[in-house]
Amino acid sequence: MTTDCYILGIESSCDDTAAAVINNGVVLSTIVATQKIHEEYGGVVPELASRAHQQNIVPVVHQALRKANIDKKDLKAIAFTRGPGLMGSLLVGTSFSKSFALGLGIPLIDVNHMQAHILAHFIKAEGQEAPNFPFIAMTISGGHTQIVKVTSYFEMEVIGQTIDDAVGEAFDKAAKILGLPYPGGPLVDKYAQQGNPKAFTFPKPKVAPLDFSFSGLKTAVLYFVERETAKNPNFVAENLADICASLQYTIVDYLMDKLKNAVSQTGIKEIAIGGGVSANSGIRRALVDAETKYGWKTHIPKFEYCTDNAAMIAMVGELKYKEKLFATSDVIASARMKF
Ligand code: KG4
Ligand code: ZN
Repeated sequence: MTTDCYILGIESSCDDTAAAVINNGVVLSTIVATQKIHEEYGGVVPELASRAHQQNIVPVVHQALRKANIDKKDLKAIAFTRGPGLMGSLLVGTSFSKSFALGLGIPLIDVNHMQAHILAHFIKAEGQEAPNFPFIAMTISGGHTQIVKVTSYFEMEVIGQTIDDAVGEAFDKAAKILGLPYPGGPLVDKYAQQGNPKAFTFPKPKVAPLDFSFSGLKTAVLYFVERETAKNPNFVAENLADICASLQYTIVDYLMDKLKNAVSQTGIKEIAIGGGVSANSGIRRALVDAETKYGWKTHIPKFEYCTDNAAMIAMVGELKYKEKLFATSDVIASARMKF
């Protein structure tokens, strides 16, 4: 029989305040308070994000403990996102976690947010099979787009990345041009379901085989919309589904090109994706198809573990706890934290 090992995870790197409790790889609770305030500004406003974190953090942690049906005294350690992210947001989670761990007299564990998106694959869930090492992880979110060679839990090497915007930003900025509210990624995905992916063509930027570039795509969408709207003022409204489907098709195809390059360069055929954009139905479908088409073994996280969440932070916390990889009390948040 395994003994209980309750770890609390806390995530506050961007605009989601989240807390979760894990016990031996099984998530007992995962609470996410998404900050709606940013919608009216069309993007995350850092100062408003920090304030909302400060407001949300105590109730979110309370709720996570209550839902897990444990007392704070049952916790073995507290894991928190140290970076990368917005400094003001990270400071709230970092300071709260430090004080809570100190008060309870238990270890504090610092977690890299991007590493957590990758290690979320080790959360035990029905129908989910953990990847085997070594594997290729592609982290696709609003802040990052990277291809990582993962040799063990704590040995990761970035072998490719975006040279400008992140893929989530590309979705969100294109959506904004189309008049959709922030964050537009999920809406582009929704409208894409009803559209024709071949209706329009957008360029796929040329950079090094494992790198990405998305700023040109955003400009291409802007010029395309301006040009067509000049001819027909209702162009976007009349063609929204086709524009979204074509845009999503271009982005997904580009991501798949990069994965193919990574597979041929490393010889590794086991692929895992992570980050908010892995919620996208197009990339999910392409990865499922790749199993038969290319003979890859692909891992797609459960929907709730794709976007920012604290279960993934608690998961890394548990792995680090078992290795006694604790943070010292003078640990500081790191906006540009590397692996
Ligand atoms: O990982 P995440 O929650 O936060 C960051 O660390 O950035 O990712 C958020 C990003 C946003 O850009 C959002 O538009 C995008 O993920 N996203 C999607 C979808 N769901 C979330 N993009 C495309 N299709 C989706 N279904
Ligand atoms: Zn994220």
